[in-house]
Amino acid sequence: MQWRLLALSLLAGHGFCQGTLPMLRFECSQLVIDRLDPLVNPGSVPSPHLHQIVGGNSFNASMDPKTHDLPAKSTCTSCTFSEDFSNYWTAVLYFKARNGTFTRVSQFVSEGLRGNGGITVYYIPSTNNKTTVTAFKPGFRMLVGDAMADSPSKRARKVCHRCMPATGDGKNINCGAPDSQTLPKEFCPGGIRAVITFPTCWDGKNLDSPDHMSHVAYATGAGANDAGPTGKCPASHPVIIPQVMYEVMWDTRPFNDKELWPKDGSQPFVYSTGDQKGYSQHGDYVFGWKDDSLQRAMNARCNGDVCTETKVQTPEEAMKCTIPQTVDEQIDGCKSELPKSLVRRGEIDLADTL
Ligand SMILES: *[C@@H]1O[C@H](CO)[C@@H](O)[C@H](O)[C@H]1NC(C)=O
Ligand SMILES: *[C@@H]1O[C@H](CO)[C@@H](O)[C@H](O)[C@H]1NC(C)=O
Ligand SMILES: *[C@@H]1O[C@H](CO)[C@@H](O)[C@H](O)[C@H]1NC(C)=O
Repeated sequence: MQWRLLALSLLAGHGFCQGTLPMLRFECSQLVIDRLDPLVNPGSVPSPHLHQIVGGNSFNASMDPKTHDLPAKSTCTSCTFSEDFSNYWTAVLYFKARNGTFTRVSQFVSEGLRGNGGITVYYIPSTNNKTTVTAFKPGFRMLVGDAMADSPSKRARKVCHRCMPATGDGKNINCGAPDSQTLPKEFCPGGIRAVITFPTCWDGKNLDSPDHMSHVAYATGAGANDAGPTGKCPASHPVIIPQVMYEVMWDTRPFNDKELWPKDGSQPFVYSTGDQKGYSQHGDYVFGWKDDSLQRAMNARCNGDVCTETKVQTPEEAMKCTIPQTVDEQIDGCKSELPKSLVRRGEIDLADTL
């Protein structure tokens, strides 16, 4: 994303004539790709489907919120802000060839940043300079999206895809046109971008909830769809939290070849959830910034991936932070069968995968 353009277009949308919308925007390189999900399926090895995970290296299958202190248990993070030991993860995208084999689609890094795949993470404070956001507390977690969805889902209304042009893209970010919940149906010269936007209102009490969503809520009213916590929080969720947003750039460019796509022209990409439509992409968040570093960065309205309020490491340092896969399975290369979850959903023709 051409993010300077993005900031300008947002401001234009708000009628501001100068300045930029300050937001943390930084790369988190790949920590691991593994079939684990400590939020939805804690302790399950393997979890139902494969995820791509970034952040602190204390990530594991269980991460008990009562005892797992991410900053204390991590010795490194794959994120640029080296006091951010949070974990962030999403589903993984695969390319399904005509002969039924699957190849993992790698990620590339958004414009202006460096790293090895992973996720570009945003934390957006309020666009109103007088409104301060309340950073998350230790143990806070949340989820956006629905891994089981195969049709438009309310839980996933802030999960979108964009068919990226070869270069540049200054259009709005929050699931407005030309974004769609579904995966694009045509060749995308600049790959496919998935954006996952988290709610900006918190109930002020619960660090998590049974569905990992109901302790937070999206704002309503004017500005609710803009970047940053600008709408009105419902009375049930009065505390304004930073807007967390993930940007995942899937490098589908090597597959832009008619000879590789199905003969009927249908799009060949499929999420590790087994979903070929795109409705099941989701983002999981486990907060893990050290002490009050996130609050300080938000209060200071730090911009981009530079901030004197919290420590920064080089992309090279961040890329060194990786952990081995826990679930021993091949996730790359041509596979005749995806991580088993694909078959589980029954969306993929079983005969194709065997
Ligand atoms: C908010 O404050 C920043 C820094 O002081 C300034 O550059 C920006 O123009 C202000 N934005 C608005 C909308 O007042
Ligand atoms: C995860 O890490 C915690 C803290 O280091 C440890 O107590 C726990 O046993 C680990 N869980 C798994 C499944 O490895
Ligand atoms: C299946 O198709 C892929 C992509 O075209 C190719 O790389 C692979 O070798 C093929 N595998 C088999 C078993 O034919």
